[in-house]
Amino acid sequence: MDQYLVLGNPIAQSRSPSIHTLFSQQTAQNIEYGKQLVELDNFNNHIHELIAQGIKGVNVTMPFKEQALAISTQLSARAELAGAVNTLSFIDGDIVGDNTDGVGLVNDLKSQHVELQGKRILLLGAGGAARGVLLPLLAENPQLLCIANRTVSKAELLVTKVNDARMQAISFTQTQAFVFDIIINATSTSLSAEIPPIDSKCISANTVCYDMVYSKERTSFLTWCATQGAKQVIDGLGMLVGQAAESFYIWRGVMPKIAPVLKTLRVELAKDK
Ligand code: ATR
Repeated sequence: MDQYLVLGNPIAQSRSPSIHTLFSQQTAQNIEYGKQLVELDNFNNHIHELIAQGIKGVNVTMPFKEQALAISTQLSARAELAGAVNTLSFIDGDIVGDNTDGVGLVNDLKSQHVELQGKRILLLGAGGAARGVLLPLLAENPQLLCIANRTVSKAELLVTKVNDARMQAISFTQTQAFVFDIIINATSTSLSAEIPPIDSKCISANTVCYDMVYSKERTSFLTWCATQGAKQVIDGLGMLVGQAAESFYIWRGVMPKIAPVLKTLRVELAKDK
């Protein structure tokens, strides 16, 4: 039976084993998926031990995504731009690194019937989480992709790097000049119950508001968006399932359905203490 793992430190909280087990049942793929805690200074050794044991691939979470990029012998363009790898495949002596976070977001939006083509998108943040979704978002042909960040120079750097006419770097204050179809929060603000100070004028009732963070209760950002009148607010639990689905697809060549797995996870999340 082919074996896969998620590696991190800490790792106890990871939902990836449940997600991949549900995928394997849904698609009748005979795989085993577990989780392992890796010592902070032992990532490279650990990977080589897993390869020697015949493990087929791993997902990598905090704090090893940059080290996973460094150990890769082949790298996708989306992983390179993200500066981070969350999926490693061990193939004939090669370590193939990819980043499925951005496609995970796009897959989740599609599964929730949110159209991206021709739309005006605001991406909040310019850290790893934001970088990871840029290319997959652009691949969906939006009309405009604005990046707003507290440190505007970081957003400007990304726009220069990607060099795509549809992209624009703005400050949080400058959001007042736009009305967006979709706003995606890729800052870490919801983790500390804060919100990025964007202008409420850029949200309409039809703006889809998305937070990459998820929690049992509605996140601080989505609560604020709903208060501004946004009818559709979505948290990042589906992105978690979506990125896992893309990793599963890379390894197994079969794309699992996101919606039923998301439904199960939502029930599990509601039961969390
Ligand atoms: P990640 O890998 O999760 O993206 P990161 O690389 O540390 O983490 O990036 C965190 C992002 O959240 C950055 O865009 C950061 O803005 P700065 O680049 O200006 O630091 C943003 N962020 C964090 N705390 C914030 C706050 N209180 N208000 C607004 N933005 C914040």
